[in-house]
Amino acid sequence: MRRKLVVANWKMHGNLASNKELLSAYIEKLTSITTIDVVVCVPYPYLSQVQAMLQNTSIAWGAQNLSKDAVGAFTGEVSASMLKDFGVSYVIIGHSERATAYCESDENIAMKFMQAKTHGLTPILCVGETLIEREAGVMQMVVGKQLDTIINTYGASVFGDAVVSYEPIWAIGTGLAASAEQAQSMHEFIRGKVAAQDKVAANSLKILYGGSVTPRNAVQLMVTQDIDGGLIGRCSLNAQEFEGICLAAG
Ligand code: PGA
Repeated sequence: MRRKLVVANWKMHGNLASNKELLSAYIEKLTSITTIDVVVCVPYPYLSQVQAMLQNTSIAWGAQNLSKDAVGAFTGEVSASMLKDFGVSYVIIGHSERATAYCESDENIAMKFMQAKTHGLTPILCVGETLIEREAGVMQMVVGKQLDTIINTYGASVFGDAVVSYEPIWAIGTGLAASAEQAQSMHEFIRGKVAAQDKVAANSLKILYGGSVTPRNAVQLMVTQDIDGGLIGRCSLNAQEFEGICLAAG
């Protein structure tokens, strides 16, 4: 039985004062939920704040990106070992908002995935298709290709203690979540793809769903067989709504 995982992705929101308020509300509402794991991914400048506030709680924290390189002359980049200095345990990789805006290739994403793994960080690899791709019926081909870059270079076993988040691009921030059936069918495909090469890894792989999750639709999504939790954007900025989603998963 895989333990469910709910991840807050704050994206580029917050400041010291509002984070303090939101994290205090997280602590008050979420630390009594012991049946799932909860993680909050914050912008880099707030990692020390989140570390100071959450270090003695059950809530873990993460970053929203990392460098594909370990060290060197890469202005503006942040390495995996720097994240470790701030107690980070999870890192989001290849979120579509980055992949499109900053032209991240599947190869770059694969390298970031391995940087995270090599440094003992749990990668949360985002995959998903656009609306045009879904309407054309090629969504499994698109997601399959995103996974293949990692599987063909490093082998399927690297997914063993990793997290994949299925994030249909048409569902992110649109208020239009995938149905439980649409998500289940893709989650099953993802697990099957890893299982074809490594059954043990496929069994322990956590596959989250992300895209307009709310406390209302979370109830249906979180009881679905291959959905092991969620990656939550907008609703994670409101402690009460985020609590509702965590309770639905717990
Ligand atoms: P959303 O974002 O919940 O605001 O749709 C999800 C995500 O980007 O992971």
